[in-house]
Amino acid sequence: MNTKLSPDERADLVMKDMTLDEKIQLLHGNGMPMFDPLTPVTAMSNRGGGYVIGIPRLGIPAIDMCDAAYGVRGSGTNGRYSTALPADVALAASWDTAAAFDYGALIGRELRAQGYNMSLGGGVDLTRDPRNGRTFEYLGEDPVLAGTMAAKLIQGTESQHILGDIKHYAFNDQESGRGAADVHIGERAARESDLLAFEIGVEQGYPAGVMCAYNRVNGLFSCENSYLLKEVLKHDWKFPGFVLSDWGGTHSLEKASAAGLDHEEGGSFFYGERYKAAVQSGSIPMSELDEHVHRILRSMFAAGIIDYPQRRSVVDPFAGLVVARTIEEDAIVLLKNERGTLPLDARKIQSIAVIGAHSDVGMISGGGSAQVDPPGENAFVASAQAPTPPNVEVWFPTSPLKAIQERAPHAAVQYNSGTDPAAAAAMAKRADVAIVFAYQWESEGKDLPNLSLPLHQDDLIAQVAAANPHTIVVLETGSPVTMPWVNAPAAILEAWYAGSDGANAVANVLFGTVNPSGKLPNTFPESEADLPRPTLVKPPLASVRFSGPVSPLERAAGLPPFTVDYNEGVEVGYKWYDAEKKSVLFPFGYGLSYSSYRYSDLTVTSGKTITATFTLANTGARAGAEIAEIYASLPAGAQEPPKRLVGWSKVRLNAGEQRTVTVEMDPKYLSIFDVQKDQWMLVPGDYTILVGGSSQDLPLRTVVHLR
Ligand code: BGC
Repeated sequence: MNTKLSPDERADLVMKDMTLDEKIQLLHGNGMPMFDPLTPVTAMSNRGGGYVIGIPRLGIPAIDMCDAAYGVRGSGTNGRYSTALPADVALAASWDTAAAFDYGALIGRELRAQGYNMSLGGGVDLTRDPRNGRTFEYLGEDPVLAGTMAAKLIQGTESQHILGDIKHYAFNDQESGRGAADVHIGERAARESDLLAFEIGVEQGYPAGVMCAYNRVNGLFSCENSYLLKEVLKHDWKFPGFVLSDWGGTHSLEKASAAGLDHEEGGSFFYGERYKAAVQSGSIPMSELDEHVHRILRSMFAAGIIDYPQRRSVVDPFAGLVVARTIEEDAIVLLKNERGTLPLDARKIQSIAVIGAHSDVGMISGGGSAQVDPPGENAFVASAQAPTPPNVEVWFPTSPLKAIQERAPHAAVQYNSGTDPAAAAAMAKRADVAIVFAYQWESEGKDLPNLSLPLHQDDLIAQVAAANPHTIVVLETGSPVTMPWVNAPAAILEAWYAGSDGANAVANVLFGTVNPSGKLPNTFPESEADLPRPTLVKPPLASVRFSGPVSPLERAAGLPPFTVDYNEGVEVGYKWYDAEKKSVLFPFGYGLSYSSYRYSDLTVTSGKTITATFTLANTGARAGAEIAEIYASLPAGAQEPPKRLVGWSKVRLNAGEQRTVTVEMDPKYLSIFDVQKDQWMLVPGDYTILVGGSSQDLPLRTVVHLR
C-alpha cells in the first residue's frame, strides 16, 4: 500500500506472496452471472459481464466488470438506474475531446456507484463496412478521429478509478460470422488503418485492458495472434496492461498464452484448471504465467482500484441527463437546411405534424451487450416482441412530441405514427411544418441487410415531403442510410441514438436554442454499390454455429473459417471514395450550422513540431462552434490515398468573432508505416495541407516540404 512505489513494484511485491492457485484465479472470469443466476459466484459478483475473484488475504479486490459502451449495461437486473449517453458514433460526431472525457467520466462514475470497477467499453473498430451492426458502438471511419476520441473516453473512465478497456482488437469490422471470419489484410494497410486507431487509443488513453476480438486476422484468431498481441501491442506500443479475450473468444492454452493472451473471459475453459496443469507439467513456464499476472495486478494499482476501493452510492440521474443532453446537442449533425427552414420560430408556427418512429413516446437505443436499460418500461413494445432485451428494440422514454410541444406552446401539435403514409401525408398537408422521425435499429451479433431505412420509412418521408414543403426529417440511426428522397424535405438532421434526454436535445436544435455543430464521422454513400464490398461477405452455415456439444478440440479449432478480404486496405471510408473518385451523399466531416464560417490565412510551419495556423471567422448572426479540419496529401512517392485527416479543432465563436487557430500535427499522422523498417516513416517531399469545414470543402491549402 506504499503509493510512492510504482504500480509495477507494487504488483511484484504482491506476487511474491501469491500461491499458484491465486495466480490462476486472476487469469479467468467466472461465467456471466446475468445469464447464469445459479453459480455461487453470482452471490459475490455485481451481476455484470465478468467477475474475477479477488484475494482478500493480500488485499486484492475482485474485478467486477460491466459492459458500458454508452452507459452501464443491465442495471435493471439490479433494480438500478443508468444514464444512456448518445451512442458512441454520436460522440465521434461531436469531434469534441472534452465531451469524450466527460462521456467516459460519467460511465466511470455510474459504474462505481453500481459497485463495478472495470468497464468493457471503448469500441474503436473502424467503420470499414457501414452495415456493421455495431457501427453505433464505434467511433467512425477515420483512425485519427476514432483513436483520439477513444483515448479521451478511456481517460475519463479511468479518472474515476475504474479499469478502462479498448476493444475489439482487431478488425471486428463486421458482425456476420464474427466467430469464424478470417480477415485478410496487408501489414502496412493494417497498421495505417484499424491498428492506428488502437495505437492512439492505447498510447494516449492508457486503458488497463485490451479486449481481443472473436475473428481471425490473417489466419489466426485475434486472441492467439502473436503478431497482434505480442509484436504490435506489447512490443511496439509498449502496452503495459492486460489482454482479455472477448467472451468465448479464447481458443487455446499454450498457443494463446505464448501469443500474449493474459486473461480468459467469460469463463475458465482454458485458463483455469487446464492452465494450472500446464504450469505444473512445465508445458507453460512459470515466467509466462507471472507475466500475465503481473500485467493484471499492475493495472489494478495503476487505475487506483486498490487505493480507492469501490463504494456503492446512488447514481445521480439528474446530473446524467445534463451530460447526455449536452453531448447530444454537440453531436447532432445538420445535413440539409433549405431556405432557412431551421431553426423553427415558435412564435410564428401555428401547427406542427410530428410523424413516425414512435416519436410520441420515445427514442431508439442501440442493442446487444451495449444495451442500457431505460427507466421504467421500454417506451414502446411491438406486439411481436418479448418485453425485455436482449435483442429487442429498446425505446427510451424521451418523447420528441412532448419536447416539441413544450417549445411551441401556442401551436397545435399533432402526432401520426406513420404506419399509413397517406394518412400521415394528409395530416402533414394541413400543418405549417411536418417533422418526420425515422429510425434504423442496430444490435450486436448481426449486420444490417442494407443501408435503407426499414419499414417503408423511405416511402413515408417521400409522401410527407410531397405534401408539405416545410418537412424536416430527423434520423435516429447508428449507420449512414441511403436517401432516395434526399431532395424532397427542406431539412434533415442526424440525431443518432440520442440517449436518455435525446428529445430535449433534438428540440433545442430544432428551435434554435442550440446551434448544431456536429460533423459526420462516417461517409454517407449514395448506394451500397459504392462500398468496397457491395455485397457483405456472409459466412457459410458451418461457420456460424457448432452443432451439438463442443469438445475441447472443437473449441480449439474454432468454427471453420471463411475469408473476408480487406482489399481496400487503408482506403477506409472517405479515403476509398476519394481514391475511387466516387461521389457521395454526404461526405466525412460534413455538417451545417445556423451560422457560417470563413477560413483564411493558412500558414504551416515545420520545425520541432508541424503546425497549421489559420484564421477562422464566424460570419453569421449566431454564436456557434465550427470543427475546423486539417487534411494532408502526402508526396506521390508515398502511394497513399488522396488525403487523410491529420488534426482538427472545435472552435466556439460568437457572432462576428474571428480567431487565430493553431493545430499541431503529430508527425506520425503524416507518416507511412514502413514494413521493412517496422516503424513509422515520414516520406521526404512536398505535403499539401488542406483546411476547411468538411473533407470535401477545404478552401485553404498550402504546400510544405518535410524531411
Ligand atoms: C461482446 C463484447 C462484450 C462481451 C461481454 C461479447 O459478446 O462482443 O463487446 O464486452 O460480450 O458482454
